[in-house]
Amino acid sequence: MKKDFLKILDFTTEEVLDTFKLAIDMKKNPSKYSEALKGKTLALIFEKPSLRTRTSFDIGIQQLGGYSLYLSPAEINLGKRESVYDVSMVLDRMVQGIMIRTFGHDIVEDMSRFTRIPVINGLTDYTHPCQGMADYMTIKEIKGDFKKLKLTYVGDGNNVAHSLMNGGARLGVHVVVSTPAGYEPNLVAFKEAEEAAKLTGAKIEYIKDPFEAVKNADVVYTDTWASMGQEAEAEKRRRIFKDYQVNEKLMAKAKKDAIFMHCLPAHRNEEVTDAVIDSKQSVVFQEAENRLHVQKAIMYQLMK
Ligand code: CP
Ligand code: NVA
Repeated sequence: MKKDFLKILDFTTEEVLDTFKLAIDMKKNPSKYSEALKGKTLALIFEKPSLRTRTSFDIGIQQLGGYSLYLSPAEINLGKRESVYDVSMVLDRMVQGIMIRTFGHDIVEDMSRFTRIPVINGLTDYTHPCQGMADYMTIKEIKGDFKKLKLTYVGDGNNVAHSLMNGGARLGVHVVVSTPAGYEPNLVAFKEAEEAAKLTGAKIEYIKDPFEAVKNADVVYTDTWASMGQEAEAEKRRRIFKDYQVNEKLMAKAKKDAIFMHCLPAHRNEEVTDAVIDSKQSVVFQEAENRLHVQKAIMYQLMK
C-alpha cells in the first residue's frame, strides 16, 4: 500500500518522531544516504511561486541519488490544459513520486486517489505539512523535547497555522492561535486537531488578544497576512492585522528564552519587525534549512 503525505495527521506520533530522528541523522551524515533513492524521479508540480520548497525538494532528491522534474504552472496548467485525472495517470507511469503545490486541497486528495505513487503536499490553501514538520524538527533541536511547550501562532489562521495545530496535536504541544475576528483557523481544521490532541494530551486553543495569547510562550510564530492567491486583499489585511504584528513589545510577553519562527517569505515590518526577525531569538534560517533535511526523510520513507 502506498503512503502519501497530504497533512501531518497522515503520520502517527511515532511516524512523526521517526521522521525527525531520520532527518537529524541525514543532516549529520548526508553521505550515508547518497544512494538511498537511487534512480528514482520526483515530479515537482508548482501552481504557485516558491523558493524554499522548490530548492529543498530539488536538492533533497538529488542528495538521495534521485532526480527531480520541475513542472511549472505554465507547462501543466492543471485542470485547464488537462484534467487532474489525466495528469495523475500519466505521471504515475513515468515517475516514482509527486510533490505538488497548488490551491485547493481537493486537488492533492484527488491526485492521491488517482495514483499508485506517493503524493507529497508542498502547500495547499488548507495545509503546509512539510513546513510544519521542519518547524517542529527545529523546535526539537533547540528545546530538546516537546513536553510542556507552548507555541503561539499570531496572525492569519491559514495553511501554516493549520499545520502547526496538526503537528502540535501529534506531539503533545500546547498550541495557541491568535487572529483578528473573521480570520480564525478553519473550523474543520481546528476540530480535527482538537480530536487528534486527545491522543497526546496536547491543547489546541484560540485566544483573540495577541498579548494574552503570547504570555509565557516558548515559541512565537507568525506568517504573512496575505497568502499566495490573496494579493488583492493585502492592503485591507494590513489594516485589519496591524495589532497582530510580532514586535519587541509582543515578544516581551513570551518566556525569556522564547524563540521566534516564521516559515518565510517574510514581509518585514508588516507581520514581524526587523528587530524581531534579526534578533538572537529568531531561528528562521535554521527553520528554512530544516525543510531540506526533514523532506529528505519524508521522501525516503514514502519512496524507498
Ligand atoms: N516556506 C515556504 O514554503 O517557502 P516557499 O514559498 O519559498 O517555498
Ligand atoms: N501562508 C503562506 C505560506 C507561504 C510559504 C502562503 O500560503 O502564501
